[in-house]
Amino acid sequence: MHSAGPSSIIGVVLDMKLTLIGFGVVGQGLVAILTDKAAELRRQHNFAPQIVAVATRSRGSLLHPDGLDPQGLLTAIAAGHLDHYPDAAGLSRGLDPLQIIAQSGAAVLIEAAPSNLQTGQPALDHVRAAFAAGQHVVLANKGPVAVAYHDLVARARAAGRSLLFEATVMAGTPALRTATAGLAGCQIAEVSGVLNGTTNYMLTEMERGLTYADALAQAQQLGYAETDPSADVDGWDAAAKAVILGAALFDQALDLRALPVQGIRHLTPADIAAARAAGERWKLIARITPQAAAVAPARLPLDHPLAAVGGATNAITYTTDLLGAVTLIGPGAGQRVTGAALLADLLAVHQRVSHRSIS
Ligand code: HSE
Repeated sequence: MHSAGPSSIIGVVLDMKLTLIGFGVVGQGLVAILTDKAAELRRQHNFAPQIVAVATRSRGSLLHPDGLDPQGLLTAIAAGHLDHYPDAAGLSRGLDPLQIIAQSGAAVLIEAAPSNLQTGQPALDHVRAAFAAGQHVVLANKGPVAVAYHDLVARARAAGRSLLFEATVMAGTPALRTATAGLAGCQIAEVSGVLNGTTNYMLTEMERGLTYADALAQAQQLGYAETDPSADVDGWDAAAKAVILGAALFDQALDLRALPVQGIRHLTPADIAAARAAGERWKLIARITPQAAAVAPARLPLDHPLAAVGGATNAITYTTDLLGAVTLIGPGAGQRVTGAALLADLLAVHQRVSHRSIS
Protein backbone atom coordinates (compact mmCIF):
# COMPACT_ATOMS: atom_id res chain seq x y z
CA MET A 1 0.00 0.00 0.00
CA HIS A 2 1.36 3.41 -0.92
CA SER A 3 1.03 6.17 1.62
CA ALA A 4 2.43 9.53 2.58
CA GLY A 5 3.47 8.49 6.09
CA PRO A 6 2.36 7.23 9.46
CA SER A 7 -0.43 9.80 9.74
CA SER A 8 -2.22 7.98 6.94
CA ILE A 9 -3.14 5.12 9.29
CA ILE A 10 -4.67 7.31 11.95
CA GLY A 11 -8.17 6.01 12.55
CA VAL A 12 -7.53 2.63 10.93
CA VAL A 13 -7.88 -0.04 13.60
CA LEU A 14 -5.72 -3.09 13.04
CA ASP A 15 -6.96 -6.43 14.30
CA MET A 16 -4.32 -8.74 15.70
CA LYS A 17 -5.08 -12.40 16.23
CA LEU A 18 -3.42 -13.91 19.28
CA THR A 19 -2.76 -17.43 20.50
CA LEU A 20 -2.22 -17.83 24.24
CA ILE A 21 -0.36 -20.86 25.58
CA GLY A 22 -0.76 -21.12 29.34
CA PHE A 23 -3.80 -19.70 31.08
CA GLY A 24 -2.68 -19.40 34.69
CA VAL A 25 -2.02 -16.30 36.74
CA VAL A 26 -0.23 -14.41 33.96
CA GLY A 27 -2.39 -15.44 31.02
CA GLN A 28 -5.56 -14.58 32.92
CA GLY A 29 -3.99 -11.26 33.90
CA LEU A 30 -3.42 -10.41 30.24
CA VAL A 31 -6.94 -11.38 29.19
CA ALA A 32 -8.42 -9.30 32.02
CA ILE A 33 -6.33 -6.29 30.96
CA LEU A 34 -7.28 -6.68 27.28
CA THR A 35 -10.94 -6.83 28.33
CA ASP A 36 -10.76 -3.81 30.64
CA LYS A 37 -8.75 -1.73 28.19
CA ALA A 38 -10.39 -2.77 24.92
CA ALA A 39 -11.90 0.66 24.22
CA GLU A 40 -8.75 2.53 25.30
CA LEU A 41 -6.47 0.34 23.16
CA ARG A 42 -8.69 0.88 20.15
CA ARG A 43 -8.95 4.63 20.72
CA GLN A 44 -5.35 5.42 21.68
CA HIS A 45 -3.43 2.81 19.71
CA ASN A 46 -5.79 1.68 16.92
CA PHE A 47 -5.19 -1.74 18.40
CA ALA A 48 -7.87 -4.44 18.40
CA PRO A 49 -6.38 -7.69 19.73
CA GLN A 50 -8.47 -10.80 19.30
CA ILE A 51 -7.72 -14.07 21.12
CA VAL A 52 -8.33 -16.92 18.70
CA ALA A 53 -6.86 -19.78 20.76
CA VAL A 54 -5.98 -20.70 24.33
CA ALA A 55 -4.11 -23.86 25.29
CA THR A 56 -3.38 -25.23 28.75
CA ARG A 57 -1.59 -28.36 29.88
CA SER A 58 -4.38 -29.87 31.95
CA ARG A 59 -7.40 -27.57 31.67
CA GLY A 60 -8.26 -27.96 28.01
CA SER A 61 -7.79 -25.87 24.88
CA LEU A 62 -9.98 -23.85 22.54
CA LEU A 63 -9.59 -22.51 19.01
CA HIS A 64 -11.98 -20.34 17.07
CA PRO A 65 -10.55 -18.64 13.98
CA ASP A 66 -13.01 -15.75 14.38
CA GLY A 67 -12.06 -15.11 18.02
CA LEU A 68 -12.99 -16.25 21.51
CA ASP A 69 -14.96 -14.23 24.04
CA PRO A 70 -12.43 -13.01 26.68
CA GLN A 71 -15.00 -12.89 29.47
CA GLY A 72 -16.19 -16.36 28.53
CA LEU A 73 -12.59 -17.60 28.78
CA LEU A 74 -12.14 -16.11 32.24
CA THR A 75 -15.46 -17.53 33.43
CA ALA A 76 -14.63 -21.00 32.07
CA ILE A 77 -11.17 -21.15 33.65
CA ALA A 78 -12.55 -19.85 36.95
CA ALA A 79 -14.90 -22.84 36.86
CA GLY A 80 -11.84 -25.09 36.52
CA HIS A 81 -11.64 -26.09 32.83
CA LEU A 82 -12.01 -24.58 29.36
CA ASP A 83 -14.67 -27.21 28.65
CA HIS A 84 -17.00 -24.81 30.47
CA TYR A 85 -16.66 -22.36 27.55
CA PRO A 86 -19.96 -22.33 25.61
CA ASP A 87 -20.26 -24.23 22.32
CA ALA A 88 -20.25 -22.25 19.10
CA ALA A 89 -20.11 -23.08 15.40
CA GLY A 90 -16.48 -23.25 14.28
CA LEU A 91 -15.11 -23.89 17.79
CA SER A 92 -12.45 -26.62 18.15
CA ARG A 93 -11.64 -28.14 21.52
CA GLY A 94 -8.76 -30.27 22.74
CA LEU A 95 -6.11 -29.46 20.11
CA ASP A 96 -2.53 -29.51 21.38
CA PRO A 97 -0.37 -26.36 21.22
CA LEU A 98 1.50 -27.39 18.05
CA GLN A 99 -1.78 -28.12 16.25
CA ILE A 100 -3.12 -24.78 17.43
CA ILE A 101 -0.03 -22.88 16.26
CA ALA A 102 -0.32 -24.50 12.83
CA GLN A 103 -4.07 -23.92 12.47
CA SER A 104 -4.80 -20.69 14.35
CA GLY A 105 -3.95 -18.12 11.69
CA ALA A 106 -2.73 -15.96 14.59
CA ALA A 107 -0.22 -13.15 14.10
CA VAL A 108 1.30 -13.59 17.56
CA LEU A 109 2.04 -16.50 19.86
CA ILE A 110 2.03 -15.59 23.55
CA GLU A 111 3.87 -18.16 25.70
CA ALA A 112 2.79 -17.79 29.31
CA ALA A 113 2.95 -21.40 30.51
CA PRO A 114 5.05 -22.35 33.57
CA SER A 115 8.80 -21.98 32.96
CA ASN A 116 10.99 -25.05 32.60
CA LEU A 117 14.43 -23.60 33.29
CA GLN A 118 16.30 -26.85 32.51
CA THR A 119 15.15 -27.51 28.95
CA GLY A 120 12.82 -24.64 28.07
CA GLN A 121 10.38 -27.29 26.84
CA PRO A 122 7.70 -27.69 25.67
CA ALA A 123 7.62 -23.92 25.17
CA LEU A 124 10.82 -23.93 23.12
CA ASP A 125 9.15 -26.11 20.48
CA HIS A 126 6.11 -23.83 20.52
CA VAL A 127 8.27 -20.76 19.87
CA ARG A 128 10.17 -22.46 17.04
CA ALA A 129 6.90 -23.63 15.48
CA ALA A 130 5.47 -20.12 15.70
CA PHE A 131 8.44 -18.61 13.85
CA ALA A 132 8.22 -21.38 11.25
CA ALA A 133 4.56 -20.38 10.78
CA GLY A 134 5.52 -16.70 10.39
CA GLN A 135 4.17 -15.59 13.77
CA HIS A 136 5.63 -13.05 16.17
CA VAL A 137 6.42 -14.37 19.66
CA VAL A 138 5.88 -12.71 23.04
CA LEU A 139 6.96 -14.57 26.17
CA ALA A 140 6.36 -14.47 29.89
CA ASN A 141 7.83 -17.99 30.01
CA LYS A 142 11.51 -17.64 30.93
CA GLY A 143 12.58 -21.13 29.89
CA PRO A 144 13.03 -20.70 26.12
CA VAL A 145 14.85 -17.36 26.48
CA ALA A 146 17.17 -18.58 29.24
CA VAL A 147 17.98 -21.83 27.41
CA ALA A 148 18.09 -20.82 23.74
CA TYR A 149 18.23 -17.04 23.36
CA HIS A 150 20.66 -16.96 20.42
CA ASP A 151 18.89 -19.72 18.53
CA LEU A 152 15.57 -17.92 18.93
CA VAL A 153 16.98 -14.56 17.88
CA ALA A 154 18.36 -16.21 14.72
CA ARG A 155 14.98 -17.82 13.97
CA ALA A 156 13.12 -14.56 14.57
CA ARG A 157 15.46 -12.73 12.18
CA ALA A 158 15.16 -15.43 9.53
CA ALA A 159 11.36 -15.26 9.80
CA GLY A 160 11.34 -11.44 9.87
CA ARG A 161 9.31 -11.56 13.08
CA SER A 162 9.62 -10.10 16.60
CA LEU A 163 10.86 -12.00 19.65
CA LEU A 164 9.86 -10.04 22.77
CA PHE A 165 10.14 -11.07 26.42
CA GLU A 166 9.83 -8.00 28.65
CA ALA A 167 7.63 -10.01 31.06
CA THR A 168 10.46 -12.42 31.88
CA VAL A 169 12.41 -9.86 33.97
CA MET A 170 10.69 -7.69 36.61
CA ALA A 171 7.20 -8.27 35.19
CA GLY A 172 5.78 -5.05 33.69
CA THR A 173 8.57 -2.87 35.08
CA PRO A 174 10.54 -2.24 31.88
CA ALA A 175 13.93 -3.61 32.95
CA LEU A 176 14.87 -4.77 29.46
CA ARG A 177 13.57 -1.77 27.50
CA THR A 178 15.16 0.64 29.97
CA ALA A 179 18.53 -0.92 29.22
CA THR A 180 18.18 -1.54 25.50
CA ALA A 181 16.30 1.64 24.52
CA GLY A 182 16.43 4.10 27.41
CA LEU A 183 20.16 3.68 28.03
CA ALA A 184 21.06 3.55 24.33
CA GLY A 185 24.53 4.95 23.82
CA CYS A 186 25.69 4.09 27.35
CA GLN A 187 28.15 1.35 28.10
CA ILE A 188 26.74 -0.80 30.89
CA ALA A 189 29.54 -2.18 33.04
CA GLU A 190 27.39 -4.03 35.55
CA VAL A 191 23.79 -4.81 36.39
CA SER A 192 22.69 -5.78 39.87
CA GLY A 193 19.20 -6.27 41.16
CA VAL A 194 16.52 -7.74 43.35
CA LEU A 195 14.88 -9.74 40.59
CA ASN A 196 12.68 -12.25 42.39
CA GLY A 197 9.41 -11.06 43.88
CA THR A 198 8.65 -14.19 45.89
CA THR A 199 11.87 -14.21 47.90
CA ASN A 200 11.79 -10.46 48.41
CA TYR A 201 8.25 -10.74 49.70
CA MET A 202 9.31 -13.60 51.99
CA LEU A 203 12.33 -11.72 53.36
CA THR A 204 10.17 -8.67 54.03
CA GLU A 205 7.56 -10.74 55.86
CA MET A 206 10.19 -12.72 57.79
CA GLU A 207 11.64 -9.41 59.00
CA ARG A 208 8.15 -8.75 60.38
CA GLY A 209 8.21 -12.06 62.23
CA LEU A 210 6.45 -14.45 59.83
CA THR A 211 7.91 -17.95 59.52
CA TYR A 212 9.59 -19.04 56.28
CA ALA A 213 6.75 -21.50 55.55
CA ASP A 214 3.99 -18.95 56.17
CA ALA A 215 5.76 -16.29 54.12
CA LEU A 216 6.12 -18.73 51.21
CA ALA A 217 2.48 -19.79 51.49
CA GLN A 218 1.40 -16.14 51.28
CA ALA A 219 3.62 -15.51 48.25
CA GLN A 220 2.01 -18.49 46.54
CA GLN A 221 -1.44 -17.30 47.49
CA LEU A 222 -0.71 -13.87 46.00
CA GLY A 223 0.36 -15.41 42.68
CA TYR A 224 4.03 -14.43 42.96
CA ALA A 225 5.64 -17.86 43.16
CA GLU A 226 6.52 -20.19 40.31
CA THR A 227 4.44 -23.37 39.91
CA ASP A 228 7.35 -25.12 41.67
CA PRO A 229 8.43 -22.47 44.22
CA SER A 230 11.82 -24.10 44.78
CA ALA A 231 12.81 -22.18 41.62
CA ASP A 232 12.21 -19.00 43.62
CA VAL A 233 13.64 -19.88 47.03
CA ASP A 234 16.73 -21.65 45.65
CA GLY A 235 17.64 -18.71 43.40
CA TRP A 236 17.04 -20.30 39.98
CA ASP A 237 14.31 -17.88 38.91
CA ALA A 238 16.60 -14.91 39.64
CA ALA A 239 19.44 -16.76 37.89
CA ALA A 240 17.31 -17.30 34.78
CA LYS A 241 16.59 -13.56 34.75
CA ALA A 242 20.34 -12.92 35.07
CA VAL A 243 20.98 -15.18 32.08
CA ILE A 244 18.29 -13.36 30.08
CA LEU A 245 19.76 -9.95 30.99
CA GLY A 246 23.25 -11.20 30.14
CA ALA A 247 22.05 -12.38 26.75
CA ALA A 248 19.94 -9.34 25.87
CA LEU A 249 22.37 -6.69 27.16
CA PHE A 250 25.80 -8.27 26.75
CA ASP A 251 25.16 -10.90 24.06
CA GLN A 252 26.32 -13.57 26.51
CA ALA A 253 25.50 -17.26 26.15
CA LEU A 254 25.60 -18.33 29.79
CA ASP A 255 24.58 -21.81 30.88
CA LEU A 256 22.24 -21.50 33.84
CA ARG A 257 23.57 -24.77 35.31
CA ALA A 258 27.12 -23.37 35.42
CA LEU A 259 26.21 -20.19 37.34
CA PRO A 260 27.05 -19.73 41.02
CA VAL A 261 23.54 -19.65 42.50
CA GLN A 262 22.45 -19.53 46.11
CA GLY A 263 18.92 -18.95 47.37
CA ILE A 264 17.37 -17.97 50.69
CA ARG A 265 16.40 -21.40 52.02
CA HIS A 266 19.24 -21.42 54.55
CA LEU A 267 18.51 -17.95 56.01
CA THR A 268 17.26 -18.27 59.60
CA PRO A 269 15.29 -15.83 61.77
CA ALA A 270 18.59 -15.36 63.67
CA ASP A 271 20.37 -14.28 60.44
CA ILE A 272 17.61 -11.79 59.75
CA ALA A 273 17.70 -10.43 63.31
CA ALA A 274 21.51 -10.10 63.18
CA ALA A 275 21.31 -8.05 59.98
CA ARG A 276 18.63 -5.83 61.47
CA ALA A 277 20.74 -5.24 64.62
CA ALA A 278 23.60 -4.11 62.37
CA GLY A 279 21.39 -1.67 60.43
CA GLU A 280 21.32 -4.01 57.42
CA ARG A 281 18.85 -6.13 55.48
CA TRP A 282 19.15 -9.41 53.55
CA LYS A 283 18.35 -9.22 49.85
CA LEU A 284 18.69 -11.87 47.15
CA ILE A 285 20.97 -10.14 44.66
CA ALA A 286 21.59 -11.06 41.04
CA ARG A 287 24.74 -9.57 39.56
CA ILE A 288 25.55 -9.53 35.86
CA THR A 289 28.69 -8.21 34.15
CA PRO A 290 29.61 -8.52 30.48
CA GLN A 291 31.55 -11.67 31.39
CA ALA A 292 29.60 -13.42 34.15
CA ALA A 293 26.52 -13.67 36.36
CA ALA A 294 25.78 -14.89 39.87
CA VAL A 295 22.96 -14.95 42.43
CA ALA A 296 23.38 -14.92 46.21
CA PRO A 297 21.85 -13.37 49.31
CA ALA A 298 23.71 -10.31 50.59
CA ARG A 299 23.45 -8.04 53.62
CA LEU A 300 22.98 -4.45 52.44
CA PRO A 301 22.97 -1.24 54.48
CA LEU A 302 19.45 0.17 54.78
CA ASP A 303 20.28 3.22 52.67
CA HIS A 304 21.45 1.08 49.72
CA PRO A 305 19.03 1.57 46.77
CA LEU A 306 18.44 -2.19 46.49
CA ALA A 307 17.73 -2.50 50.23
CA ALA A 308 14.79 -0.12 50.10
CA VAL A 309 12.42 -2.34 48.10
CA GLY A 310 9.99 -4.45 50.11
CA GLY A 311 7.40 -7.09 49.26
CA ALA A 312 7.18 -8.25 45.64
CA THR A 313 8.73 -4.99 44.45
CA ASN A 314 11.95 -5.45 42.47
CA ALA A 315 14.83 -3.08 41.75
CA ILE A 316 17.66 -3.07 39.25
CA THR A 317 20.74 -0.85 39.04
CA TYR A 318 22.59 -0.33 35.76
CA THR A 319 26.10 1.00 36.23
CA THR A 320 26.85 3.04 33.12
CA ASP A 321 29.64 5.20 31.74
CA LEU A 322 27.57 8.26 30.83
CA LEU A 323 25.03 8.33 33.68
CA GLY A 324 26.70 6.48 36.53
CA ALA A 325 24.21 4.34 38.43
CA VAL A 326 20.61 4.27 37.20
CA THR A 327 18.14 2.38 39.39
CA LEU A 328 14.69 1.27 38.29
CA ILE A 329 12.16 0.18 40.92
CA GLY A 330 8.78 -1.42 40.33
CA PRO A 331 6.53 -4.46 40.63
CA GLY A 332 8.36 -7.74 39.98
CA ALA A 333 5.69 -10.42 40.16
CA GLY A 334 1.92 -10.76 40.10
CA GLN A 335 -1.05 -11.15 37.80
CA ARG A 336 -1.80 -7.76 36.30
CA VAL A 337 1.73 -6.40 36.56
CA THR A 338 3.04 -9.29 34.45
CA GLY A 339 0.09 -9.08 32.07
CA ALA A 340 1.08 -5.43 31.61
CA ALA A 341 4.47 -6.50 30.21
CA LEU A 342 2.76 -8.78 27.69
CA LEU A 343 0.55 -5.87 26.65
CA ALA A 344 3.59 -3.60 26.19
CA ASP A 345 5.21 -6.22 23.96
CA LEU A 346 2.00 -6.72 21.98
CA LEU A 347 1.83 -2.97 21.38
CA ALA A 348 5.43 -3.06 20.15
CA VAL A 349 4.49 -5.80 17.67
CA HIS A 350 1.40 -3.81 16.69
CA GLN A 351 3.55 -0.74 16.05
CA ARG A 352 5.93 -2.76 13.89
CA VAL A 353 3.07 -4.30 11.90
CA SER A 354 1.35 -0.91 11.50
CA HIS A 355 4.50 0.68 10.14
CA ARG A 356 5.02 -2.20 7.75
CA SER A 357 1.44 -1.94 6.49
CA ILE A 358 1.98 1.65 5.37
CA SER A 359 5.42 1.36 3.79
N1 HSE B 1 8.17 -16.24 40.57
C1 HSE B 1 8.63 -15.03 39.98
C2 HSE B 1 9.00 -14.05 41.07
C3 HSE B 1 7.55 -14.48 39.10
O1 HSE B 1 8.61 -14.28 42.22
O2 HSE B 1 9.70 -13.08 40.81
C4 HSE B 1 7.99 -13.31 38.26
O3 HSE B 1 8.99 -13.67 37.35
